Amino acid sequence: MEGLPQPTASYEAEPSEVSRVLLLYSGGLDTSVMLKWIQERYQAEVVALTVNLGQPGEDFEVVRGKALQLGAVDCVLVDAREEFARDYVLPAIKANAVYGLGYPLFTALGRPLIAKLAVEQARSSGCDTIAHGCTGKGNDQVRIEATVATLAPELKVIAPVRSWQMGREEEIAYAREHGIPVKGGTEQTPYSIDDNLWGRSSEGRWIEELDVAPQDDVFQLVTRPEEAPDEPQVVSVSFERGVPVALDGERLELVELIERAAELGARHGVGIVDHIEDRIVGLKVRDIYEVPAAAILLTAHQELEKLVGTIHQNQLKPTLDQRWGYLVYAGLWWEPLREDLDAYMEAANAQVTGTIGLRLYKGAVRVVTRESPNAVYDAQLATFSESGGLFSQAASPGFIELFSLQSRMAWRVRHPEG
Ligand code: ARG
Repeated sequence: MEGLPQPTASYEAEPSEVSRVLLLYSGGLDTSVMLKWIQERYQAEVVALTVNLGQPGEDFEVVRGKALQLGAVDCVLVDAREEFARDYVLPAIKANAVYGLGYPLFTALGRPLIAKLAVEQARSSGCDTIAHGCTGKGNDQVRIEATVATLAPELKVIAPVRSWQMGREEEIAYAREHGIPVKGGTEQTPYSIDDNLWGRSSEGRWIEELDVAPQDDVFQLVTRPEEAPDEPQVVSVSFERGVPVALDGERLELVELIERAAELGARHGVGIVDHIEDRIVGLKVRDIYEVPAAAILLTAHQELEKLVGTIHQNQLKPTLDQRWGYLVYAGLWWEPLREDLDAYMEAANAQVTGTIGLRLYKGAVRVVTRESPNAVYDAQLATFSESGGLFSQAASPGFIELFSLQSRMAWRVRHPEG
């Protein structure tokens, strides 16, 4: 076991302790090379785990076949779409979760679930170590390792891609040598993609050049806005207590509702985000996101929440939302503050029932109608045309005098000459 890294952190495996490894397996080049490399270098058995979080167009049976062909003693497929939607995406909707003003956190929401499933599978299949394919530069290593170290102090972690110092060329050479099928043309480095029900990210290649505008081939989910239909489409999203329950009046289970919203948004070019991001590990990077479902559902949710909340609630919630988003981005899903905040989110969302109409047109999503039994809104009071009822216009001057009192006094102090 020469050349294998010695641990820095308590949860990292000593090479000699590794005998049966649970590998988080995607079927891509990195994790396929890992599957062979772990068997070879550690003389260990590998159990592969592949998690379905709604990655569009993935054939999980093919992924499973590949793992077995590469020598995995087993490859377990877990369809976690429902759990992901219910326990991870839904709280994110209630918290209007967006990081850095643009990223709806789909990867960040998926990682703690994937790592939790890895812990469960490692325990049930007698593994001593969990292996993942994250690099040492990203956020995903933080999310996965923090989860494993929190939930399963008895398990160890290895992260071969972080330590093996193979470049892409060497990985391809290793793959060729070991009979690992390498997909498609290898002359051009592909984008680094991650996706699930809630969105898709691309990194690498020209995306790293800040002065290069997005090239068309990066968009594999959302129609380019200029090619979107010439006719706008209005979609209505109905919520009950903060939970999206229907599209255009049709009641749908959450997974299907998210998938349908994604299709609608994708057709109309909605949800493209070109994002500069501050990673936890200190790097500033650029990501291209395609988040059609989030663009529709978060916009609708936020609008409805604003309609049913008071001015005071509406001023506080975004600061808590931002805090929630940061914790999740930073991989601290299991931090108790996240649950504390969720309790607030639940309370605030108890009133979030109603329907929001959105107009989708060539990349834009705009709220056009609002309806809620809980709206803190009275058309009679708001109208310009009448006075009376709960609102007395005669009371306004008295209000203004007192409301502006301190500001006026302070102005005098600063401008004694009048
Ligand atoms: N920048 C996003 C995040 O940190 C997306 C990361 C995508 N992950 C990946 N392995 N390509 O959540």
